[in-house]
Amino acid sequence: MDVDGQPTRSIALADDGWGVEIIDQTKLPHRFEKVRLEDWQGAAHAIKAMLVRGAPLIGATAAYGMALAMRDDPSEDSRAAVHDALLATRPTAVNLRWALDRLADRLAPLAPADRMAAAYALATEIADEDVALCRSIGENGLKLIEIAADRKEAGTPVNLLTHCNAGWLATVDWGTALAPIYMAHNAGISVHIWVDETRPRNQGAGLTAWELGRHGVPHTVVVDNAGGHLMQHGQVDLCITGTDRTTAHGDVCNKIGTYLKALAAEANGVPFYVALPGPTIDWRIGDGVREIPIEQRGGDEVSKVSGLTDDGRLAEVTVTPPGSTVANYAFDVTPAKLVSGLITERGICPASREGLLGLYPEQRDTAA
Ligand code: MRU
Repeated sequence: MDVDGQPTRSIALADDGWGVEIIDQTKLPHRFEKVRLEDWQGAAHAIKAMLVRGAPLIGATAAYGMALAMRDDPSEDSRAAVHDALLATRPTAVNLRWALDRLADRLAPLAPADRMAAAYALATEIADEDVALCRSIGENGLKLIEIAADRKEAGTPVNLLTHCNAGWLATVDWGTALAPIYMAHNAGISVHIWVDETRPRNQGAGLTAWELGRHGVPHTVVVDNAGGHLMQHGQVDLCITGTDRTTAHGDVCNKIGTYLKALAAEANGVPFYVALPGPTIDWRIGDGVREIPIEQRGGDEVSKVSGLTDDGRLAEVTVTPPGSTVANYAFDVTPAKLVSGLITERGICPASREGLLGLYPEQRDTAA
């Protein structure tokens, strides 16, 4: 999508053809800084420290990380060790395993001398594929916004609510939950987005608001607790979130707080859709609540808040009293029964095993 009129992807090969450029998302929305990755350790750090985040982008970064590793040492020992190290960087996004397994299948049978070129080619293929998948998610989800727009009085915008950041910064381009919104905006449909700030790391306030603003999409940032009130008062026509892992039965694991929004949507008759590309589906598991381990992150993300001071410095302040224990659950699982539908690159389906298999029939034998 555009940043100051410049088409920009969240990850790309540098002009020299081997370094990898990412955006340091920990600095947004206050500084737009690119970082150059030159080795797999840099890629692993970028994922772990959340310079890059979002399930599809984590997968693409790991893929380029493996390419950088093969440039340094294409031996089998190195390939296997880097595979395991990258896989351990973040536990939830299943795209990470999907990308690394694809690389393993492609690279392991090759002679070491052929691995670097093959790894770069596949990493670029994975990144380009993600752009195409997200574009199709956008086209499919656009239909829901068109239907909502037809029901609105002329001149009033469709009000959507989203949680966390599932925009182009979370993918390679377009985004998942935000792709239909960009499509609608580009098509001249009037939309307004309620952006959950998404504590503790504020991906909504910092990243979603930044993206939408750069693209000119009207939006309002609200505290995470406002969604129920807005839905109760008819101010949300449609919720769309992303997901880091969706089970074969349609349970959706996403940023902490998503479940509460789904409950509020159900209670108030607001459609609650989740947008995802095929690689985000974990076909091996069915019951997300019981089977998805939830990432717990450092307590500092809860006890501290960072932002820009009035004199332009990036600063961090503490919001909890000394001695208070904090807990930082990064994700939660929304059961399929609370999800109105899944928006995928192949179409929209019910959040159920049969719904997903209707779009992905080739998974019938592997689906839990
Ligand atoms: O911890 P993050 O920022 O990597 O989590 C990302 C999310 O939960 C996103 O909202 C998202 O829906 C998944 S990525 C499209």
